[in-house]
Amino acid sequence: MLSIRRMGSDDLPLGLRLSAQAGWNQTEADWRRFLRLEPDGCFVAQWAGEPVATTAAFVFGPTGWIAMVLVDESFRHRGIASRLVEHALDYLERRGVRTARLDATPLGMPVYERLGFLPEYSLVRVQAIIAAPAAGSAFVPLAADRVEEVCELDQQVTGTPRGRLIHSLYVERPEVVTAATSDGRIAGYAMWRPGRRASQIGPAAALGSRAGAALLDQVLHRCPTGPVFADIPTKNTRAIQWAESRSFTVQREFTRMYRGRPITDFPQRIWAGSGPEKG
Ligand SMILES: CC(C)(COP(=O)(O)OP(=O)(O)OC[C@H]1O[C@@H](n2cnc3c(N)ncnc32)[C@H](O)[C@@H]1OP(=O)(O)O)[C@@H](O)C(=O)NCCC(=O)NCCS
Repeated sequence: MLSIRRMGSDDLPLGLRLSAQAGWNQTEADWRRFLRLEPDGCFVAQWAGEPVATTAAFVFGPTGWIAMVLVDESFRHRGIASRLVEHALDYLERRGVRTARLDATPLGMPVYERLGFLPEYSLVRVQAIIAAPAAGSAFVPLAADRVEEVCELDQQVTGTPRGRLIHSLYVERPEVVTAATSDGRIAGYAMWRPGRRASQIGPAAALGSRAGAALLDQVLHRCPTGPVFADIPTKNTRAIQWAESRSFTVQREFTRMYRGRPITDFPQRIWAGSGPEKG
């Protein structure tokens, strides 16, 4: 009844339909990026030949991310997500990954727990509405020759070599990425991107709270009028305070989970995740 195959660009309408059905924020550009980043790690599940579910697994050195676990509403509770995630885990193991991580929704959590994932910490998705663009805020786009330093900082903070992701986001929209420096060294970075429902702030990381808040302000002021989301680890109390002070409210919660070797990361320095897609 159930078969799993690689996802291709012909499946973009399926991915978009499922992410919209779940109320998620991904655009076609996001799905295209997933296929570009990990062409062999994006999968579709078919039930009696009908494509009904997706997942995507990304290899970042020894760490893998599982994302986009989406099952059509009318095909749930048949074990499809469980089989898809097992398939994604096999893919990651074959690629030498020692830790698999993901950001689980409350619906996804029991599926992952049964597969041996353990909770690490929580993130809240916060939402605000921008009524009018802020005038005159200083925003200096990151220079291309400093992207590598941003990747290094991101790796220090997240414990994961996500350079491929950062480069990909930068190449798509260099004008939305900014960074803070201290004594000439990169001390933080932030960016935003358009989403289906809202502008999405993130990824963003900073070594100090003053830089973190200033970066998020700069990025927030660049977002167009309308809703804006940011996914913030609750351990980053300064970022939560920043969000409250800018009238953000909590929209939903995710649980970061892992299976395999624990990762050392610094959620108190993560000012916004990249979205549940890749932490
Ligand atoms: C979360 C989600 C992916 C689960 O998909 P699913 O295919 O229904 O998941 P499974 O069928 O593997 O497991 C779901 C439940 O069905 C049960 N189940 C599995 N096979 C079954 C069967 N043959 N008959 C009856 N129940 C079954 C499982 O035991 C599980 O029960 P539980 O939730 O009480 O623990 C789906 O609800 C979804 O797409 N949600 C929206 C997006 C989302 O939140 N994705 C998760 C991202 S982290």
